Amino acid sequence: MSKIYSGIRGTSSLDPAETYSFNQIIKKSRNVFDVFGYEEISLPLLEEEGLFRRSVGDTTDIVEKQMFKIEGKDIVLRPEGTAQVIRYYLENSLYKKSDFYKFSYVGPMFRGERPQKGRLRQFHHIGAEAIGSNSFYLDAEIISLSMRILDIIGVREKSLNINTLGCSLDKVNFSKDLKKKLIGNKSKFCQDCQRRIQKNPLRVIDCKNKTCKSEVATLNIGESHLCSDCRQHFNDLRVLLDELGIDYTYSPHLVRGLDYYTNTVFEITSSQLGSQDAIGAGGRYNELIQCLGGPSISAIGFALGVERLMLILDKSSPRKGISVYVATVDDNLKTQALKLTQQLRGEGIRVDTGYLKKSLKGQLRYAQKKGAKFVVIMGEEEIAQNSVMLKDMDTATQEKVKIDAVVNKIKSEI
Ligand code: HAM
Repeated sequence: MSKIYSGIRGTSSLDPAETYSFNQIIKKSRNVFDVFGYEEISLPLLEEEGLFRRSVGDTTDIVEKQMFKIEGKDIVLRPEGTAQVIRYYLENSLYKKSDFYKFSYVGPMFRGERPQKGRLRQFHHIGAEAIGSNSFYLDAEIISLSMRILDIIGVREKSLNINTLGCSLDKVNFSKDLKKKLIGNKSKFCQDCQRRIQKNPLRVIDCKNKTCKSEVATLNIGESHLCSDCRQHFNDLRVLLDELGIDYTYSPHLVRGLDYYTNTVFEITSSQLGSQDAIGAGGRYNELIQCLGGPSISAIGFALGVERLMLILDKSSPRKGISVYVATVDDNLKTQALKLTQQLRGEGIRVDTGYLKKSLKGQLRYAQKKGAKFVVIMGEEEIAQNSVMLKDMDTATQEKVKIDAVVNKIKSEI
């Protein structure tokens, strides 16, 4: 017997109802991007490994443990979109053509994580990057854009957490300070954090390990590492968010798992999810463009995780396949059935007809399963009178309708 293959662990195969709600999320997000003036770009799934090593950071989990590498090549499946958008921006010298860009993107990302609920190896981002300004007004726009998308797609319960890491100099000072504080208690931390204390102490702050978390909670982490400009930027942003009526929590422990961030960082969580509760996140990366060989240009962005959104969105009424089904009592009426089907399709109505040998009862059962509101029944007797029976599946009533009037009747009632 031949083997029946299973899907790869950590990937998801969506059925039609799930695919419909996936597409609805994307469609609604695209509308919001459009309204906010973000233009969509489409970038490849493959990138050079070094791009992510340099930008996301060599010692981050994503780069250290999770990249899917093509064997024998310095090519990986992209784990995230920001570095890639900047690669595209620099490769095309876009900064020479305009001083400000707003891009959006949608597509699969790949991370070799240990799969669990809400943590996949292939998942999808809906993301945006605004390049060319360090204004705190832009921080507020990016945050309100992400919250707006979540509102529009129907995520009611959500919390926004914000923090600032300060500029790269602040980050260096913060790291040094932190290392001093952590090194004395090194043995109390998990194996990963013991390494992080040496190489990248900021990572210790957002470790999910319980013991590490409670150790970190004893540290007095606040804004003392910030220079006056960065402190001002963050204060201005907070005042503006209050002004705009956007609720947030200041979370000094929020540092994010990607090294390119500077200044404002944020994360949106939902209590409807388990341990993987972030539905989206983002922040500023004012040094990344320079770090990838470009000029000094500030930028900020975010990404939402589509699969996590699907876990929390209402699945109660998925749209079914068709609105109308054209059934035949006799097989020799199939050509006429197909003609009417095509005519209805021409009017943009979601309609199907049968391709299997089925009794009328079987056809009606199939139509119901597919969500048809009307079934057109073609029988010899009715056709002889240039008519068909039109059955309303909701009320289970039917009436005889002239064949040349049926399209308009369906159109007016659907
Ligand atoms: P990120 O936090 O790594 O940020 O990913 C953004 C969102 O993607 C997360 O909040 C989560 O909802 C979802 N996500 C991440 N990993 C997984 C996974 N393994 N399975 C399912 N969903 C996942 C970034 O990638 C940044 N590029 C965001 C950004 C854009 N920052 C600035 N611009």
